Amino acid sequence: MSLNVSKTKLQLKILGLASSKEFVLYFKPRQTSEKISLLNFLLEKDFAIAYSCYGKKVCKTCKVNLSYKNTKNESIRMENILSCSTYLDDILDAILPNTIATIEITYL
Ligand code: FES
Repeated sequence: MSLNVSKTKLQLKILGLASSKEFVLYFKPRQTSEKISLLNFLLEKDFAIAYSCYGKKVCKTCKVNLSYKNTKNESIRMENILSCSTYLDDILDAILPNTIATIEITYL
């Protein structure tokens, strides 16, 4: 069976571990060659994400945990990844269609 399903949007569940709050966001790829980072996406959505080096990978304060099922239906979990250098387009490429990626933010 082929999983060659066109993926047009990414569904993200944002979990604030400190507040136990949960949010659902959708990302649609943009018609530009520039990828959007998870940090920039969350800032656009007015989440209070910690950062101070604007994506230069110096401050390391923008860390989140990411979980999703990949296209082989394997559970993937990555802890303490830098949201400034994690790109939504790459998650969309890697995720099993019609599933949700979960982002955990410890201090939110
Ligand atoms: S914003 Fe500084 S490491 Fe991500």
